[in-house]
Order: sequence, then structure tokens, then C-alpha cells
Amino acid sequence: MARTVGIKDVARTAGVSVGTVSNVINRPDLVSADTRLRVEAAITNLGYVRSESARQLRAGRSRVLALLVLDMGNPFFVDIARGAEKVARENGLMVMVCNSGQDQAEEDEYLAHFTQQQVLGVLLSPVDSARTDTATLQRAGIPVVLVDRGAEIEESCSVSVDDVLGGALAVRHLIESGNERIVFVGGPPSLQQVRNRLTGARQAVADAGLPPEALTVVETQRLDIAAGRDAGQRLLGVAARPTGVFCANDLLALGVLQSLFAMGVRVPDDIALVGYDDIEFAGAAAVPITSVRQPAYRIGRTSAELLIAESLADPAEHEHQRIVYQPELVVRASSMRRHASAR
Ligand code: RIB
Repeated sequence: MARTVGIKDVARTAGVSVGTVSNVINRPDLVSADTRLRVEAAITNLGYVRSESARQLRAGRSRVLALLVLDMGNPFFVDIARGAEKVARENGLMVMVCNSGQDQAEEDEYLAHFTQQQVLGVLLSPVDSARTDTATLQRAGIPVVLVDRGAEIEESCSVSVDDVLGGALAVRHLIESGNERIVFVGGPPSLQQVRNRLTGARQAVADAGLPPEALTVVETQRLDIAAGRDAGQRLLGVAARPTGVFCANDLLALGVLQSLFAMGVRVPDDIALVGYDDIEFAGAAAVPITSVRQPAYRIGRTSAELLIAESLADPAEHEHQRIVYQPELVVRASSMRRHASAR
């Protein structure tokens, strides 16, 4: 059966972007006559028919996808938003980005607002796995896709990364680099991502034949640079001085790096450092930070695709999907000690 001609085929044939093709269809006033003619010729020649789904999406329904993130100050979520926004635009939709700031009351308020506003769907990075309530939205016919968190029961579609493997990759690398006293910096444990990264870290310690006490936890309430600076100041007070630190995300690692530098502690020679997410600032830090990469842009794209598909599906026929991507260790200077043995 011949493949259905899509909007990307039209764009490629006419030598324009998908957005331009969308504008020729929906907002021809925004496009020059020459470009419009080229695109219209491609549509005719290819026999492109605008998808029924796109038409449905515009038929009297909201064209807004809500994205509720944990921390708008974290570049990781900016990349997720970029991916979601790209897919939304391809479907003639827009994304409203909101910030819960890791505050459950804020999250609850936003979810209630989304129900009142009858948004087309919600992309949600939850504050607390146990307390997030999406039932009201779903009863109102508003689909929810969990972003950066795996759905624990079949309550929603979800797109996440195997954070247990990610934590294991980070600590296995520290151990293989000669570190046998390691600190995990992260929290709160109510965040599934943090719990899973710590689980992976503990697995790596056990797999290496080290005793559980080889890994000490310095818990933080937030996952930002300020919390990292505070944790960094506490590191030297840890019983057995660590030679390696694994932070639950790169912002914490940047804060730890700042504190260690201020105390004259050298990274990696005195303490090796590993973060998580691989945001742009990890590689750009004064000591480029080894990190566990999450495909944030791709997570955003896939989440939006799942949400749009669910918003068009018959609820009786829709089956939730649980997409789990694989993390990747990106080794940089912060964990490559010149001498192999730990101090
Ligand atoms: O904001 C919380 C953290 O969880 C982010 O850095 C990202 O790692 C997400 O998974």
C-alpha cells in the first residue's frame, strides 16, 4: 500500500520548512506569493491531503498543550519544552509551559486550572509520584502524559529514561576510576527520578563487591545549584572523606563544583565528580563535568506525539504506552583523575 504523503514530503519537495507548509495551509497571508505557489504545486503534484487528525484538532477544541515542569530554571526542562513545542507546531498547536517549582500545591493548582481551561492535553513532570492526581483531568477527557517519569501503574502514557541504569553507569564509572568512598548528592526521595538513580548507584556498589557503606547519601530538598553549593560544603564533613561524588543532576554538580573550588578542593584530583542530564552547562563548566545524558529534546517530542495521538483516539480503544529511553555516560575532565588510585 503506497505510503500516505505527509507534510514533510510536501516541505521537502517545495524546499521549505514544515512550518511554512503549515502556514500556506492555515495562514497563507504570512507566506510570499512565490513560496505559496511552490508549496501549492507540491501539494497538488504529491496529492497531499491534510490529515484528518489535524483538522479534528482544530474543530472547536483547544489548540493548547500544557507542559508542567518541575523547575523552569533547569535547562533540562527547556530542552524538553523545545521538543514538545516542535511537534505541537507541526500539528498547528501551541505549548503553554508552567512551573511547579517542585511544590505540590502549585502542581495541584495548575492541574485544576488546566481542567477549567479545557486544554487539549497535559504533559506533566510530577512533584511526588504518590500525590499527583490526574484523575480529574482524565475524567474531563483531558489526556495526561507523564514526562521524565515512568507510569507506575497503567494510569497514563509516559516517557522516561532508565534512571536505575543511569545511576549505575555513573557510580560504576567512579568505581572503575579508582573511587571507593562515594557520596550520592540528591533529593528529595519523593521524586521517582532521584530514587531510581540512587537505586542504580547502590547496585553498582554491590556489583563491584564493595560494602554498602562505600556509598554515603547527602540528601537535598531541591535539585538546583544552591542546593549543590550547600551539599558541597557538607561533603568534607562526611565520615570517611569521599574521593567521588555522584549528583542526581547537573545543577547540583555545578553547585558542588563551586563549593569544592572555594574550599581549595581539586576536581578530579581530590574528588571526582559526576552529574546527570548532560545539560549544555555541564560540558561548559570550568572543569567540564562528566554526566549521564538524557535525550531531553527527544523526550519532549515523543511526549507531545503520544499526547496528541491520545487526544484524537477513542478512549475505549486507546492503550497507554510507556516509552523508556536509555541513558548514556558522557565522560569529561571532572572524573578523569591523572593517577588511578584513590587518595
Ligand atoms: O528536576 C529534577 C531532575 O529530574 C532534572 O534535573 C532531571 O534530571 C529530571 O529527571
